[in-house]
This record gives sequence, C-alpha cells and structure tokens, in this order.
Amino acid sequence: MRRIAQSVWIVVLAIPAVYAQLRFPCSQLVTERLDPLVTPGEVSPHLHQIVGGNAFNITMDPENDLPGLSTCTTCRFVEDKSNYWTAVMYFKHPNGSFIRVPQMANHNTGPGIQDGGMTVYYFQPRAPTSNLNIVAFRKGFRMRVGNPMRRRNDIDPSSTEATATSFRCFVGSDPGVGLPGSGPADSFEFPSVPCSGGIRSNIYFPQCWNGVDLDSPDHESHVAHPIGALFGTDCPSTHPVRLPLLFMEIVWDTRPFNDPALWPQDGTQPFVFSMGDPTGYGQHADYVFGWEGDSLQRAMEVCFGGEGIATNCPVLTVQDTDSMNNCKQGAKVPEVTEGQYLEKLPGCNPLQGGPEPATSIPNCNAPSTTTAAPVPTGPSVVVIPPWTVCNPGTVHQVGVPFCDSIPPKTGTAGPLQTSPPAIVTPF
Ligand SMILES: *[C@@H]1O[C@H](CO)[C@@H](O)[C@H](O)[C@H]1NC(C)=O
Ligand SMILES: *[C@@H]1O[C@H](CO)[C@@H](O)[C@H](O)[C@H]1NC(C)=O
Repeated sequence: MRRIAQSVWIVVLAIPAVYAQLRFPCSQLVTERLDPLVTPGEVSPHLHQIVGGNAFNITMDPENDLPGLSTCTTCRFVEDKSNYWTAVMYFKHPNGSFIRVPQMANHNTGPGIQDGGMTVYYFQPRAPTSNLNIVAFRKGFRMRVGNPMRRRNDIDPSSTEATATSFRCFVGSDPGVGLPGSGPADSFEFPSVPCSGGIRSNIYFPQCWNGVDLDSPDHESHVAHPIGALFGTDCPSTHPVRLPLLFMEIVWDTRPFNDPALWPQDGTQPFVFSMGDPTGYGQHADYVFGWEGDSLQRAMEVCFGGEGIATNCPVLTVQDTDSMNNCKQGAKVPEVTEGQYLEKLPGCNPLQGGPEPATSIPNCNAPSTTTAAPVPTGPSVVVIPPWTVCNPGTVHQVGVPFCDSIPPKTGTAGPLQTSPPAIVTPF
C-alpha cells in the first residue's frame, strides 16, 4: 500500500512544471459501434467503449446542450457530462475466435470500484514562456487523437506526437514508474509478454488550440501538441491557446489470458483492437466537451495541488461509485460484441497487421442501422483489480483517497469495495 502511494506521487513529481491535475474515474456508459465525431448519423466501422454523460448519441450536434440533455454521468464529477471514447481490446484465441478483454479500475480511483471505463486527467501544464493561462474547452469543442489505420511506429521519435499513445505492462499490483509513455515498462505497441497485472493504455490529447475552431475536418488540425515534450514546453505559434492537458488511462484486465498455452506459438502476442489492429499502433481516442457552464474553467483556476484526489477540488461536486456505475445506456446497434467468443470482430474488421496503413473493408453484411429498442450490452460485472483503490486507514497517503471520503448513497451497503452491483473476481 505504502509503495503504491509513493509510486503514484513519484509519477506526479516526475512531471516537471505542472501545476496540478484533476484525476477521476469514469465507468462504462455503453459499448457500441457508434462514433458521433468521425461517422455522425451512421453505424461506426469499429466498436468503442464510451464513458461520460448519457446524452451520447449517434449524432451529436455541436449546438447540443449536453449538461441539459444528460440525466446522469458515469464520471466522478457530476458537472462532467462530456463523452470520452476509445477502441475496445479483444483477445484472439488460438482457434481464431475473439472475446472482449474486460476493463477494470485503476490504482487509487475509489472509494468504490468502477465498472470498466477509464481514468480521466485534466492536467494544468505550466509553460515556460507563453500561454501561461489555461483556457478550458468551450461548448461544442471536440477532438480526436491517434489514427485507427496506423500499423507501425512511423512518427518522428523527437516529436511530441510520438509519445501521445502508449501502453504500460503492469506487474502484479505495482503501478510502475516514470511518466506514462516513457517508463521502463512502457511501449508504443502492445506489450510482447504477458502482463501479470493487466495492460494500461496511456493517451494524451493535444493541449494547444488555434483559438478559433471547435472542430476541424480531421478532428485534429485545430489542436496541436506542444513543442518538444508533453510537459513544460511552449505551444506552437499556430496554436497559441493553452488548453487543459486531457489524458486518459484504460486498464485492460488481460489476466485471464496469460496462460502461455493460449498465446500464439510464433512469438507474437494475442491482443487486438476492435479495428482489426494486432499491433496497438492504431490506438486512438475521441472527446466531446460537455462540462456544465464554466465548471471546468473554475476548477482549472482553483484546484491546484490536489494530488489527483477528486474530493480535494472544492468547486466541483463528486458522486459515489454506485451512482457512476448505475448510469447506463442501451446499445443502439443490434449485435453481440462481448461476454462470449465471437467468430469475427464486430463490423468489417479483418486483422490487418501492417506495416502498411490499414484500409477500410466495405460490404461485409455487418449491421448498419440502429435499433429502436436499445439493449444493455453484456452483464454488469465489476472486476476487482489486483490493487487497492482507496485508503482504508486514517493516516494520509499522498494521492490515495480515503475509503470513507465519498459515502455510498445507499448507506448501509457494507464495505465499499464489495457493495453492489455484483462484483466478481475475474474468471
Ligand atoms: C438521440 O437522437 C435521437 C434523434 O436522432 C433522439 O430521438 C434521442 O432522444 C436521442 N437520445 C438521447 C439519449 O439523447
Ligand atoms: C474457441 O475456443 C473458445 C473457448 O473454448 C470457444 O468458446 C469457441 O467456440 C472456440 N471457437 C471455435 C471456432 O472453435
């Protein structure tokens, strides 16, 4: 426990010139083949896992009032009705079938254990010479990072973009060391060996904005990474407005698939992303801003030095983990995507291993319309991670929330880490 606390703090200290951070869990909202940013109004080519407000939809007009349209959010802060989504990881069995890899709670994201989803960070990076003020995203703002068609390490290693998406191979309960993307256990492709504590995706969004456009045709060119490094560097003159640095971590529970007999005999690894990517280089994420009013701006101005503990930001309102986990949407695309072995990945996604960029495969008879009666995807099963998510004691540990810091709304449900919905230990 002490070791984990220290490691988390080492990560924070290892980031030079950063004011502070909001760090909070968001549970799964829905898993479905929609992407209102890249393919609005259509069924998306590949499967996504989505968190945030329940106004997520097949089309999300920038004029939509997400805080007004949402009746709940899967995120810790009730003000955050944004949506965040990424591709989904599958395990490829030696017999050729695929099964979705479950997701689990990250270190120190409690109290309570979230149902899948991700950990979201809003860092307040401190620039050396300019763009000292952090300007929160505006209503209608959206962006994407990463390229689902990418299949090799083709980005100039000296560019900031080169470290935007990566993986960490967890050993047991240890969170590892180093800035995510630069640590000794980190890689840009899927880890090549079994990871006994699961695999974490690390995804940094661009933090510099052109100050004008809420979006751009490629959903990327209105924003940029800073020059030279992710922290403590200036924005390019083309994108002079400093945004909060949005960063997300997704913990994939690969523990049930670590048996060497289940791994390919040719020395490759067995995990793939939902767009038919067996390399991991196609890792990508999308963001649609939806915080209530000026709540994010206020948090950026006031919440410094909070150790990434949600209750340390007094201008925002936290909700308990049961409330996060109970905010759910039905899947609007009528297809089975998880909970059982599938003969192929949802959509038209044969594995494309590169090194050439992947191409889109048309006309494979996958469902292309949504259903009028959305259905819940899979059983609501909360995985217990191999590490603690909160501090059950009374002595403060840096970066670790106390287990009694956010009482469950249901009151007498018993120990926080075993309260409903049904929690099962993995496989
Ligand atoms: C999604 O959009 C449809 C119209 O396209 C609308 O009828 C429905 O209410 C929306 N759902 C949510 C959750 O906003
Ligand atoms: C592959 O193995 C899994 C696990 O035993 C099984 O559920 C699935 O049906 C098998 N697929 C094929 C094509 O045999």
